[in-house]
Amino acid sequence: MTTQSTTAQPYLVVEDLKVRFTTEDGVVRAVDGVSFELPRGRTLGIVGESGSGKSVTSMAVMGLHARGKRTEIAGKILVNGKNIVTMTDEETRKMRGNDMAMVFQDPLSALHPFYTIGRQITTAYKVHHPRASKEDARKRAIEMLDRVGIPEPHRRVDQYPHEFSGGMRQRAMIAMALVNNPALLIADEPTTALDVTVQAQILDLLTDLQKEFNSAIIMITHDLGVISQIADEVLVMYAGRVAEHGSIEQVMRSAQHPYAWGLLESIPSLHGDPEEDLKPIKGNPPSLINVPSGCAFHPRCPYRMMNPGPCDLEVPQLLAISQPGHSVACHLPEDRRVAIYTNEVSEVGVAQ
Ligand SMILES: Nc1ncnc2c1ncn2[C@@H]1O[C@H](COP(=O)(O)OP(=O)(O)O)[C@@H](O)[C@H]1O
Ligand code: SF4
Ligand SMILES: [Mg+2]
Repeated sequence: MTTQSTTAQPYLVVEDLKVRFTTEDGVVRAVDGVSFELPRGRTLGIVGESGSGKSVTSMAVMGLHARGKRTEIAGKILVNGKNIVTMTDEETRKMRGNDMAMVFQDPLSALHPFYTIGRQITTAYKVHHPRASKEDARKRAIEMLDRVGIPEPHRRVDQYPHEFSGGMRQRAMIAMALVNNPALLIADEPTTALDVTVQAQILDLLTDLQKEFNSAIIMITHDLGVISQIADEVLVMYAGRVAEHGSIEQVMRSAQHPYAWGLLESIPSLHGDPEEDLKPIKGNPPSLINVPSGCAFHPRCPYRMMNPGPCDLEVPQLLAISQPGHSVACHLPEDRRVAIYTNEVSEVGVAQ
């Protein structure tokens, strides 16, 4: 997890990414100016409530958005120095597999019902190993099924997706995504549907992959507990923007954005006392068609400054704070945020 990159430029550079969809109801600003970098050997966790733009961001990195009048993508996404935003579909297809790969939340979206699991994994393998023999590809598929913890992989390799349970399908999809040892892996809520033991096994597998191939990993989840086990750094997304970005220690122990405080207060695993009432964040995530003015979090923020105040008027910029590597998009002065966190948020046990 902590291996440093040896290349001058990080493997992934995302710069002012904007993704907009034109729908009958209006323009959805799904991603609105997201920037981050990720070198090989590091894991970035992306957290945020449902609808905050996490999946749209990862699909953009993979070059998977259907291009056309209804979908507008702006900004830069450099994968290994090549800009995904300006590439053709054919060019991004060539990069998927070993330059970058993705594990989706729903395995049925990645597995074809008509082909055996083995055939789908060998097909993915042969795209990047065209000279591999049939036997070698099959051997590799069995090895991958074994590595993701599928019992009797020699038999299972010839089964169809519908013969696998939900958890097994999820693992088969992970096997398929990892078959070409991708340099960048995006895992979009990969363990949400799995039980705790399998979840731990998959997280171990991702950590092994990283050690072996020095991969960059993006782990998307709404579960900060998962992030704390695997990530080196965390990006907190709200309404298509970055609210906070820092190392895992900075975000878990001294978060500075009121929305991040809300996320931390709603994690059961971080509370010492299981009887203690968790505090879900009040209100709902905003529509990304009518994003609230100024700070998009202001209608739900207990610390907003309004009448007069900047919170409902100006979009807060993501700015570096005094701790290197930690940045926050909030109008509150840093000393005020530290005081609130220390006196109010840490009282519920988050900062222990
Ligand atoms: N193809 C699309 N057309 C229109 N709106 C979309 C499309 N894909 C995603 N959205 C909208 O973009 C927003 C962000 O979605 P998403 O990235 O999937 O959120 P999440 O953080 O839960 O992964 C949501 O409001 C979603 O409804
Ligand atoms: S900018 Fe204002 S509304 Fe937004 S999180 Fe900070 S205090 Fe709350
Ligand atoms: Mg999603």
